[in-house]
Amino acid sequence: MVPEIRHIPLIDIGRDPDDIAAELDRACRDTGFFFVVGHDVPVDLQQRLDALSREFFALPDREKAAIDMRLGGRAWRGWFPVGRELTSGVPDQKEGIYFGQERPPSDLPLHGPNLFPERPAGLRDAVLAYIDAVTALGHRVLRALAVALGLEAGWFDAHLTHDPLVLFRIFHYPPLEQRDERWSVGEHTDYGLITILAQDESGGLEVRGPDGWIAAPPIANSFVVNLGDMLERMTGGRYKSTPHRVHNTSGADRLSFPLFLDPAWAAEVLPVPTVGDARENSDAIDRWDGASVHEWSGTYGDYLLTKVGRVFPELRDEVL
Ligand code: OGA
Ligand code: NI
Repeated sequence: MVPEIRHIPLIDIGRDPDDIAAELDRACRDTGFFFVVGHDVPVDLQQRLDALSREFFALPDREKAAIDMRLGGRAWRGWFPVGRELTSGVPDQKEGIYFGQERPPSDLPLHGPNLFPERPAGLRDAVLAYIDAVTALGHRVLRALAVALGLEAGWFDAHLTHDPLVLFRIFHYPPLEQRDERWSVGEHTDYGLITILAQDESGGLEVRGPDGWIAAPPIANSFVVNLGDMLERMTGGRYKSTPHRVHNTSGADRLSFPLFLDPAWAAEVLPVPTVGDARENSDAIDRWDGASVHEWSGTYGDYLLTKVGRVFPELRDEVL
């Protein structure tokens, strides 16, 4: 099948924010998805991370369970087996490891030390280096997004992401049959500001475009970037936090590496000054979870916690 990339533009993030602002603005109003090229995340780091991750997932479950997410407690770190994470109440056909910024133990939920496996030994260094490199790319994307919104390039840094919440996951999606009605990941939106996703060559990621589902196929040395609920909220719906899903029918094991660059835990996420709270295309109509990104108040941490409880009900009592 020829990959369809009609509505998902390729943006060279190596250029000056002023030069890409218009393209970026269009992409964010259209599907809220774009590919990023021209980045400086080292290819050999990505390849190393991919190889080490495959080594980890090939281990028997009982060895992987040495870093079971249940042991990560409130920090929400560690491995979960296929079927334990739910999207809209339905188990996804994926296993994965949750990571975040490496921090000392903390009372704050979703903060603290990572759980790293003993084998493969190099995974720890690769993950931490990757988080740093892709977080730096994320800040660059946010600078360009600020310009696209008519704000100072440093606006996000000054208001929301000076001390961002960064979550990183490695997912392994076993192959599904074409006719399999289960999902690798069910339809959902992401919660924060931007998600920066590296995917292998398998494909299977789909985005709900204005005229139906479209593929976000693998493109060599690119990242898929999509906007989360907070950007939709801050822009009164001008920018889209678009539903997406994965169905891995490639016949191969698919790996993906999403990094979520989110507002600071304690940040209150308010409308940006250039947009106000116009709610020009408000979401309430047909969002995947029937919830509105506008109708709540509190900190980003509060918002995130309600979401975590739904995707890992087992963890709910511990984190909430
Ligand atoms: C996610 C997500 C897509 C993928 O983790 O939120 O949408 O390809 N992942 O893994
Ligand atoms: Ni997602």
